[in-house]
Amino acid sequence: MLCGSSYTNGTPTDCWALAKPMDEQTLRNLLNLESEKSLDRIQIFEEIDSTNSELLRQIQAGSTENQVVIASSQTAGRGRRGRQWLSPKNGGIYLSLARHFSMDANALQALSLVTAISVLEALKELGAQGLQLKWPNDVLFEKKKLAGILLELQQKEALRFVVFGIGVNIELSADSMERIDRPVTDLNSIINEPPSRVILVAALLNRLCRNLENYESSGFSSFEARWNELDCYRMIDIEIQNGESRLIGKSLGVDSEGSLLLQTAKGIQRINGGEVFPSLRPLTE
Ligand code: BTN
Repeated sequence: MLCGSSYTNGTPTDCWALAKPMDEQTLRNLLNLESEKSLDRIQIFEEIDSTNSELLRQIQAGSTENQVVIASSQTAGRGRRGRQWLSPKNGGIYLSLARHFSMDANALQALSLVTAISVLEALKELGAQGLQLKWPNDVLFEKKKLAGILLELQQKEALRFVVFGIGVNIELSADSMERIDRPVTDLNSIINEPPSRVILVAALLNRLCRNLENYESSGFSSFEARWNELDCYRMIDIEIQNGESRLIGKSLGVDSEGSLLLQTAKGIQRINGGEVFPSLRPLTE
């Protein structure tokens, strides 16, 4: 049962707060002025295929608003690299934000790092200590995945939209954990009394909107040091898998554009795609 472990001192209050349906007005009241102003539309669904897919459809159909879609469950939640994102009812936060950007497609990588920093900072503000980042955009606790991010780009006539999809595990059943082929964790295992979903969503949106404004005005430079401080594989031997290709080296953290710097046997390489794993092999490539 989803709510099992959120009972504290014998009272089911947290469980109720997490399962309570969210309403737009309560959420708007929790948003700070700048995010409230920047969000033209907020849509809340009980169930949807994927919050990212819904926004991509709406943009395709002509919507030009900056908007958010939130769902209590997804029937076809999508992760990076074509993976499925398990999205049981109230088991996590499933949220997507669509915004148009004037910057070019190359900026997308840094945007995805800025999103991961925002998620970590919002969860930390709500009491989750010891969180770290894995390039390019995973939020981890004790090297287990707590949140994932899927950015998708959509060009509609002269406008370039980015859909920021955020999934945060709140309470995964043992069955769900078993179905995921990587180490995962959830917020209930990290915070004693997790805040309600609406508070979580508001904190995520507030932090993300503010960081996106900063990124648009000043670029990635102010985020570079923040990322490197929080990167759990920095100065560690890693393996980067990208399709069939594998690269081994020591991670030196990210540069001012958000590329990963890898010290390999052939020198420093700038990495712009792929998935990071801890390396068990010596640096021979
Ligand atoms: C990953 O780490 O693979 C990215 C996971 C992203 C999941 C979120 S949940 C909300 C949004 N809708 C989706 O279908 N995916 C993203």
